[in-house]
Amino acid sequence: MENRPQWGTRAGFILAAVGSAVGLGNIWRFPAVAYENGGGAFFLPYLFALLTAGIPLLILEFTLGHKYKGSAPLSIARLSKKSEWLGWWQLAISFVISTYYAVIIAWAFSYSKFSLSLAWGKEPGDFLFGDFLHLAEKPGQIGGVVPGVFIPLVLVWIVTLGVLFKGVKKGIELANKVMIPTLVVLFLIIVVRALTLDGAAQGLDAFFKPDWSKIASPKVWVAAYGQIFFSLSIGFAIMITYSSYLPKKTDLTNSAFITGFANSGFELLAGIGVFSALGFMAAQQGVPVSEVVSAGVGLAFVVFPQIINEFPAFNEFFGVAFFLCLSLAGLTSLISIVETYIAGVQDKFKVSRNKAVAFGGGISALLSILFATNGGLYFLDAADNFINQFGIVVAGFVEVVLVAWVVKELKNLQAHANSVSDVRLGSWWRICLSIITPIVLGYMMIQNFITNIKENYGGYPTGFVISSGWLVAAGALVVGILFMLFKWDKNALTVPSEQEKEVS
Ligand code: PFF
Repeated sequence: MENRPQWGTRAGFILAAVGSAVGLGNIWRFPAVAYENGGGAFFLPYLFALLTAGIPLLILEFTLGHKYKGSAPLSIARLSKKSEWLGWWQLAISFVISTYYAVIIAWAFSYSKFSLSLAWGKEPGDFLFGDFLHLAEKPGQIGGVVPGVFIPLVLVWIVTLGVLFKGVKKGIELANKVMIPTLVVLFLIIVVRALTLDGAAQGLDAFFKPDWSKIASPKVWVAAYGQIFFSLSIGFAIMITYSSYLPKKTDLTNSAFITGFANSGFELLAGIGVFSALGFMAAQQGVPVSEVVSAGVGLAFVVFPQIINEFPAFNEFFGVAFFLCLSLAGLTSLISIVETYIAGVQDKFKVSRNKAVAFGGGISALLSILFATNGGLYFLDAADNFINQFGIVVAGFVEVVLVAWVVKELKNLQAHANSVSDVRLGSWWRICLSIITPIVLGYMMIQNFITNIKENYGGYPTGFVISSGWLVAAGALVVGILFMLFKWDKNALTVPSEQEKEVS
């Protein structure tokens, strides 16, 4: 029936899936999450979460995309017509994420350039919030567009949409084939250098030292599941979209294992690199490692510039390398997330790929300018928190409950995965998805609600939290439901049973 594009090779697909998974979350989120939740002891809940939720869900999403051969809304509608809204909801979530994720990559672009002259000077914190972001005094103020952020942002969108215009094989696959190996090589150079710095051993010691007392706390387990979820890009509609471009004969289970382990491998590498570097900085300043640990924007754009300042030699080179790594890891994730709504628009409205890229990507690019204003960082912080906690986690919960308990399709999907895969899924897969994952995600969801209702996220004023947080998360759901009202083309919901080519 339809002429769906295909990956050139299975390796190309896996690289693209890994490209999506390996993102900022691996570099700036994992090391601190692991450290704060038991260090070496965190690996136990982390591995458990990987094996009981991460990889099983990845297999589920790969199977949904492969079996139903559609973007997330089309695949879900083919699974159960009434549930189509879930696919659109996930797309709307992806859309919101893309608008601010692009801006963080723009910062990384700028910092790659700043590294050439160590432009942040001796006070990288003042430089970031003052000289670079020109941050507004209060959350909620928009101010004007900051040219220093806007210009690299335009560049980020040119690269991303340029790749997407080229299509699945010549665009996404090729871009990942170039970007992922480059990222790995650059990152390895940084990690090896970090490992040989004075103080690295103390950093690694702080990172790996197990604190078993934490392991009984539900908080630690929730953190492990949360990290696995975000880090593997599951519940975002991305993996369903990517696997819809697979040829008929593709080993799905094996691909999910490779993707899951590659992502965690990179994460571990990032933990080693980041903590070696933190150990070095702590040694330079004569303070314990615990005093320099940070995550997110602060780690990447304040602490890392400080570390680079203190490097014994080739400071500029390591600065450029680090920020290029952030840019590459971010770009391959951004490409994957924009592809989700391009594919959705194309499937539903039967427009050409170019039109879908121009329309979907164009609107996202325009909206992203909000995050390039003086108040951008506050908006970004609020949107990110709420869309993760009340978008991805809740949509992921609905996804597993729907498949396992409402439409009860797990057995059929298991049979589909088994018909093309070497490793055969047993009942463990169904137990993970129908019992363990919904319980953990359900618990996480309730906790998130309680915490966010009890106190305003980030200490922000209530009006701001409502308009830039709660409403953004709720808006994604409403938009999702609205999109369901558009009618599908005749026959669109028939499940395609055939695909032409085979790829090993
Ligand atoms: N797995 C990604 C990460 O670790 O950063 C999650 C992600 C975020 C994917 C944003 C795509 C994206 F646009």
